Amino acid sequence: MVQTFVQSTTDVVDFLKHQHNLIKDMFDDVLHASDPKAREKAFVDLRQLLAVHETAEEMVVHPRARHEVADGDNIVDARLKEEHEAKEELSRLEKMDIDSEEFLKALTSFRDAVVEHAEHEENEEFNQLQAELSAADLKRMAGAVRAAEAIAPTRPHAGVESAVLNFAVGPFASMLDRARDAISAAIK
Ligand SMILES: [Fe+2]
Ligand SMILES: [Fe+2]
Repeated sequence: MVQTFVQSTTDVVDFLKHQHNLIKDMFDDVLHASDPKAREKAFVDLRQLLAVHETAEEMVVHPRARHEVADGDNIVDARLKEEHEAKEELSRLEKMDIDSEEFLKALTSFRDAVVEHAEHEENEEFNQLQAELSAADLKRMAGAVRAAEAIAPTRPHAGVESAVLNFAVGPFASMLDRARDAISAAIK
């Protein structure tokens, strides 16, 4: 049992699918927050996780899928387009009043787009990649992806504010820069 758990958590595809579920939960945390302060905190957590998740996909997973998956170029280009749109939508959301109806409405449709994007990844890209690559490859890629985790909240309900978390607070664009730096260092 223990061994099965270790294997599943070191496979890059399983790891990213788990993050997809975490992202969905964190959208709910923002949408259902009890007060503006809690909503702000949940929104920071969500953006940090999205920054490390999407950056890891762009640097580690999509390039590999281009070559390994049938029709990889078209599939990856479509995902990159969705990720680019998500970044633009996030910078619009960051300028809104977090407690306004406008924000909640925009965040709800953004959540729907992100969930749809994740489903495309799982069904058109990740499952195929998992079938094509060896266990050793999937494990090596997971190592690079996990390197970015150091700046992301992996346990949003732990109730403990960590120093690394505060380090990454700021506009989404700067979170992306930090995620890129962490992954670059890991894949050198
Ligand atoms: Fe993605
Ligand atoms: Fe994803």
